[in-house]
Amino acid sequence: MPKMEAKTSLLDNMIGVGDMVLLEPLTEESFINNLKNRFEHGEIYTYIGSVVISLNPYRPLPIYTADKVEEYRNRNFYELSPHIYALADEAYRSLRDQDKDQCILITGESGAGKTEASKLVMSYVAAVCGKGQEVNKVKEQLLQSNPVLEAFGNAKTVRNDNSSRFGKYMDIEFDFKGDPLGGVISNYLLEKSRVVKQPRGERNFHIFYQLLSGASEDTLRTLKLDRDLGKYNYLSLDSASVNGLDDAANFRTVRNAMQIVGFMEDEVQSVLELVAAILKLGNIEFKPESRVNGFDESRVKDKNDLKEMCELMGIEQAALERAFSFRTVEARTDKVSTTLNVAQAYYARDALAKNLYSRLFSWLVARINESIKAQFKARKKVMGVLDIYGFEIFEDNSFEQFIINYCNEKLQQIFIELTLKEEQEEYVREGIEWTNIEYFNNAIICDLIENNQSGILAMLDEECLRPGTVTDETFLDKLNTICAEHQHFESRLSKNSKFLTDHSLPHSCFRIQHYAGKVLYRVESFVDKNNDLLYRDLSQAMYKANHSLMKLLFPEGNPVKVNLKRPPTAGFQFRASVGTLMKNLLTKNPNYIRCIKPNDKKASHIFTDSLACHQVRYLGLMENVRVRRAGYAFRQAYEPCLERYKMLCKQTWPHWRGPAREGVEVLLNDLQIPQEEFSYGRSKIFIRNPRTLFTLEEKRARCLEDLATLIQKIYRGWKQRTLFLLMKRSQIVVAAWYRRYAQQKKYQQIKRSTIVVQSFIRGWKARMILRELKYQKRCKEAVTTIAAYWHGTQARRELRRLKEEARRKHAVAVIWAYWLGLKVRREYRKFFRANAGKKIYEFTIQRIMQKYFLELKKTMPSMSPIDKSWPPRQYLFLEGAHTELRRIFHLWRCKIYREQFTEQKKTIYEEKLEASEIFKDKKALYPSSVGQSFKGDYLEIKTNPKYQKLNALVDEKVIMADVVNKINRANGKGAARVFLLTKTSLMLADLKTGQLKASVPLADVAGVSVSSQTDGFFALRLKEGSASAAKGDFLLSSERLIEIVTKLHRTKAGCEDREQIDVDISDEFLVQFKQDKVCVKFLQGGPKNGNSATCKRKNNRLLEVSVPSP
Ligand SMILES: Nc1ncnc2c1ncn2[C@@H]1O[C@H](COP(=O)(O)OP(=O)(O)O)[C@@H](O)[C@H]1O
Ligand SMILES: [Mg+2]
Repeated sequence: MPKMEAKTSLLDNMIGVGDMVLLEPLTEESFINNLKNRFEHGEIYTYIGSVVISLNPYRPLPIYTADKVEEYRNRNFYELSPHIYALADEAYRSLRDQDKDQCILITGESGAGKTEASKLVMSYVAAVCGKGQEVNKVKEQLLQSNPVLEAFGNAKTVRNDNSSRFGKYMDIEFDFKGDPLGGVISNYLLEKSRVVKQPRGERNFHIFYQLLSGASEDTLRTLKLDRDLGKYNYLSLDSASVNGLDDAANFRTVRNAMQIVGFMEDEVQSVLELVAAILKLGNIEFKPESRVNGFDESRVKDKNDLKEMCELMGIEQAALERAFSFRTVEARTDKVSTTLNVAQAYYARDALAKNLYSRLFSWLVARINESIKAQFKARKKVMGVLDIYGFEIFEDNSFEQFIINYCNEKLQQIFIELTLKEEQEEYVREGIEWTNIEYFNNAIICDLIENNQSGILAMLDEECLRPGTVTDETFLDKLNTICAEHQHFESRLSKNSKFLTDHSLPHSCFRIQHYAGKVLYRVESFVDKNNDLLYRDLSQAMYKANHSLMKLLFPEGNPVKVNLKRPPTAGFQFRASVGTLMKNLLTKNPNYIRCIKPNDKKASHIFTDSLACHQVRYLGLMENVRVRRAGYAFRQAYEPCLERYKMLCKQTWPHWRGPAREGVEVLLNDLQIPQEEFSYGRSKIFIRNPRTLFTLEEKRARCLEDLATLIQKIYRGWKQRTLFLLMKRSQIVVAAWYRRYAQQKKYQQIKRSTIVVQSFIRGWKARMILRELKYQKRCKEAVTTIAAYWHGTQARRELRRLKEEARRKHAVAVIWAYWLGLKVRREYRKFFRANAGKKIYEFTIQRIMQKYFLELKKTMPSMSPIDKSWPPRQYLFLEGAHTELRRIFHLWRCKIYREQFTEQKKTIYEEKLEASEIFKDKKALYPSSVGQSFKGDYLEIKTNPKYQKLNALVDEKVIMADVVNKINRANGKGAARVFLLTKTSLMLADLKTGQLKASVPLADVAGVSVSSQTDGFFALRLKEGSASAAKGDFLLSSERLIEIVTKLHRTKAGCEDREQIDVDISDEFLVQFKQDKVCVKFLQGGPKNGNSATCKRKNNRLLEVSVPSP
């Protein structure tokens, strides 16, 4: 835990006082006021030393959260404000760390919050102890045992909607690490009378209502039950539904809890069957039937319920019916059967119902124990939680109250014993002298009740066992004689004359002065209740049931084991179990929770002083405080004490360097507290009077104020100084930054200005230099110009002089020539005629012409018509004649050339000419054909013996015979064929066999289609409707395409009809194949496959011919 928190204390933020030991003055009034004050501030827990007083808040408080658990975990008891968790933590840690078995005793009256407290303790322990799958399962089973027991053992009463009608003690077992191993539950005295009858405004046990409202229709049907509560005599109706209690939902919770605890499905079913059987039992009614002997005998009125119950339990109906009419009394030797009257029958029925229920409840506890018992036999540490009914004082107190109050008396006894013992042990431990403490010891009251000879219980048993008539009155008489002298026994008719006139004491009652107050008991039915008789016939009938659980509950019904001894009485049993419990508790370290009910209305925020006072009294709380304060009211370990008060003395403040004890001594001496007010123990300081403590507290509070002021002062100073220093530092930083910024700005300004000034100066200087340079340059230029002008002038002058000289010379020559001409003309004039000039001209022309022709004769070109050369002419005026001469020469030369031609050669040229007309510049194949001569019959059909057969078929002259490729229409592949052309027809024959394949009259040929490219493909188009056209056009290819087509053209033109054949040159044309028209398309630059074009059939409408690019 952090050290800071360790400094808090119970004494901090107290409302009233958190520990009643510190109450000053200690009176009942101040005690109640303190409780009230705290209650009104929501503080429901208050300590008396280590005892926790708990007030029922009757509202959910936010103080049971997981955070709270953490807060109280591992803290000292007095460290935090009072809480049930502090007690639980203390107990758990003491168990775990000091190996001390613990018991937590929770007492208080009904509705004071005992059961809630026990659950809080259990849940706290579950939250802080170990974790893990196995451990969690154990925890879960322990916690889930609660809803099961509450369903069967709790009921709505006027005091508490969920009042436990049984006492419960639960041992939770832990291993050495403090992990829970399992548990054992003991139950005490279930209020079984509630099964058959409930006081006004109260209910039967929860399970009946839960079953009827929560079970499914199916379940109800198998249990033969009806959802309507009104149908059952044993259920009280006026408070069947309780605010804030959801029976149906609780039924599911209970079933779920039973499953978690480990009940088998058939066990649950058996339990519910028993519950149903009890309801049925309640509905059985009796009527009298007169007998001869004058007595009435009871008979079952309406057998339906009886029948159903017997069916449910597998009981023989007749046997049970008989058991309600007769009773067998067995003596040692013989059996006597007596009849039952109606009242006895009802008594028997109710006794059976009560027994059935209480045995079922005990079986449930045993069954739960079997599930939750520790698995290992290892040594265990135990924490017992006792949730037992508190002291009860009603108007009408019967046997139950007597028993309950006896139990509380015992608890009070061990409380006193243990508290004193602990107190004494602490004194011894701390080495402080023990001063005897006066206190009320209730052993005498316990003795009055439980003494073996003269105790009330012993006498009651004696009465019950006594032969002869025994009534409640005889029992009271006995008490009156035997207990008369006892200080705490009061009875009107006792020998103690003191009470003879006490009218608050009715005759049929006795009164006991319990430690908690006087209680008046009515003796009526004491004997019956103590006997708790169940007729043997009934138990035998039950034993015979065909129902395993029922059989188990009534072992005494086994006829083989007839036990004539009377069963122990209720009082005896209870005394024995209380005895065991007390022994058990005495071995453990006790922790007390005293529950108090603040009001009777189950209301929050109401505190009824008288009610609280009553409870404080009978719980013996004042007694408790007194015992606690008998020696020293307050004790505290030295360390926390010094820590808390060290500021009260200069030596110990702020630090004490020696042992804490010496520090405390110095402190107390310094404060001048009287010596007798405190004692020094070994580890604790003991303070006798609470006043001393409060004085210390007061001083501390005052001192704290001063200290707070001091601390505040120093803190403020420190804070301001820190702030100032911070501001100062900040200011320096800001100033530095600002200065830097300002300087930077200034520097930049100066820099900029300097640059401007500099640039102006530099500009100015540059301009000066420029001006100077320009001036110098101009000077230089001027000099050059002047020099140039000067040189120019000189040169021109010289030139002029030279020109002048040349002109003069020329003039001299001209003048000389003229002079000479003039002289000659003058000299020879006498020798020439006037028209001699014309004659000279003509002569000159003649001479020139002569010379031209002679020259031409020598240089004449060759006689070849294709020779284009022609000699040049010398004079321009000869041009016309020269051209004409050339033309004439050429014509003449051509005529000579033609005249040498034979007829055959002429035809060849004609053919060539025609070929040129058809193909020149139209088909790329053409130029290659120009050089070839058109031989026509390449196969020499007439002479070649190979074609003899074919020759026989041809009677005309063969114009063309060659091998061509016929293109297959289907795949574009070629097949070699002999191609024959005669004057009238065109034939195709097989190359090998010479067999004629096709013969087409030329008249049927309409035209030829060829491409414009270098390929040799051509299609022979036949005239539509002609006889040959039936087979379709021919697609052929030949290298001699030009020749073939030309010849075909000529031949057709030479026919009688003089029809021209139509040659169509295009890269895409249609060919008629039988019925279909197929397009032949020529692509240039297709895949190079050698040098020839290839044809491919693309689809049934297209043949593609790839022609290699030239
Ligand atoms: N600590 C508590 N906080 C809130 N309600 C409480 C507390 N203790 C008791 N109660 C209320 O008081 C009722 C009665 O308490 P319960 O423990 O059954 O009383 P007892 O067992 O003493 O008869 C509970 O049902 C619950 O409503
Ligand atoms: Mg209870």
